[in-house]
Amino acid sequence: MLNKSFSIRNLFFWGIILVLNCSANAQGLTGIILSPPDTNRGLPVMKALQRRASTRQFDTTNLNQQDLSDLLWAANGINRPQSGKRTAPSALNAQDIDVYVVLKKGIYLYNAADHTLQPVVKGDHRQLFAGRNPEEQIAPVICLLVSDLSRFPTGDESMHMVWAAEDAGIVSQNISLFCASVGLATRPRANMPVEIVRQLLNLKKSQQPMLNQPVCYNPDRLHPD
Ligand SMILES: Cc1cc2nc3c(=O)[nH]c(=O)nc-3n(C[C@H](O)[C@H](O)[C@H](O)COP(=O)(O)O)c2cc1C
Repeated sequence: MLNKSFSIRNLFFWGIILVLNCSANAQGLTGIILSPPDTNRGLPVMKALQRRASTRQFDTTNLNQQDLSDLLWAANGINRPQSGKRTAPSALNAQDIDVYVVLKKGIYLYNAADHTLQPVVKGDHRQLFAGRNPEEQIAPVICLLVSDLSRFPTGDESMHMVWAAEDAGIVSQNISLFCASVGLATRPRANMPVEIVRQLLNLKKSQQPMLNQPVCYNPDRLHPD
């Protein structure tokens, strides 16, 4: 009994520390209300598939509010408000993939339920996700896909990482097709310093960074035919 109340008190203590730590890291960074998705834009899906490609050349111009909003909705937004289901399917509808958005001013978490960005960490951390080429320019937006494996309600634990990888791959392809469709450029990347990212974002043990995806304007494709 004593042990139990001690561990509950301990948990409470560490919970408070965690919350304070998160909010301290995000201090001075305000949330962002995104614009409703423009579902009438972009190339037809066959044209977008024809244009889909990964780039290594990143333009540094900031994305405008509508492009950023549509990018996140396309990645993993809610497309059926009655059921809360997403643009990307997920194993057991676990909706395990969270999209963290790394911008110059800080890192945010995309909240699909209210289509907003919640502040997580202040400051420019985009360099963490840069490629190996020192000449490479840093994209204005990096989408970081993190799976929370604790959201899989059932199933063999050995399968959870497989499902997480599959779910991340689908969100990644949503991003790539959206980019191809509207004149943006992107590249999925598994390469990143996972442990540093974990610490920076204060991730739980069950949360696994899967892929990051820089997104920028594609100067050659701003006027698709
Ligand atoms: C799961 C996955 C992980 C990847 N990781 C990296 C990476 O860490 N670094 C990188 O430069 N490209 C990465 N890529 C991009 C691939 O190199 C690229 O998709 C491949 O060369 C094919 O080119 P394409 O996408 O233009 O067809 C990754 C792609 C996928 C699907």
